[in-house]
Amino acid sequence: MQNLRDDIPQRKPTRVLFVCLGNICRSPAAQGVMQRLVNERNLEEFYEIDSAGTYGGHSGQMPDRRMCVHARQRGYELTHRARQVTPDDLEHFDVIVGMDAANVDDLQSMAYSTGQMRKVVNMGNYIRFNRHYDHVPDPYYEGSEGFELVLDLLEDACECLLQELESKRMIIHQ
Ligand code: 4NP
Repeated sequence: MQNLRDDIPQRKPTRVLFVCLGNICRSPAAQGVMQRLVNERNLEEFYEIDSAGTYGGHSGQMPDRRMCVHARQRGYELTHRARQVTPDDLEHFDVIVGMDAANVDDLQSMAYSTGQMRKVVNMGNYIRFNRHYDHVPDPYYEGSEGFELVLDLLEDACECLLQELESKRMIIHQ
């Protein structure tokens, strides 16, 4: 007898990797913000969301305590453990989102094909409401305002990025 599951077309989830320098402030926050948007829309089966850093010095650590505090005030529990981005990530993920131009440069220099190169985008491209920013600035040496700004920019940009990914998914699967 044929297994029922063989009849169900297997749709691979869209894999999104957020990348910053240390993977303890911006990218784990982006991961938390995007995951909540995906969960709120019941889209869990269509997306795999992860984050990583171009610098491996914080590998294994929980997100920065200040980032956790500010995120928690908006209802995000950040549980990601920092890890360094690997060459395999450029193959595995479909969209690789650097938080600033340095992250994008570092990621593009790891790419070994034009296909991989084209997966890399700047999160700044998705910021709609704050016209002063074309990137998500590093809050590590900033005060509370820096962390609040990061969350404001990420909430805006994740919404926009998810809208774009969803419109592509609808075209592919209609
Ligand atoms: P992130 O922030 O790239 O948003 O995780 C930073 C974390 C650590 C350092 C710099 C930025 N650091 O210099 O150790």
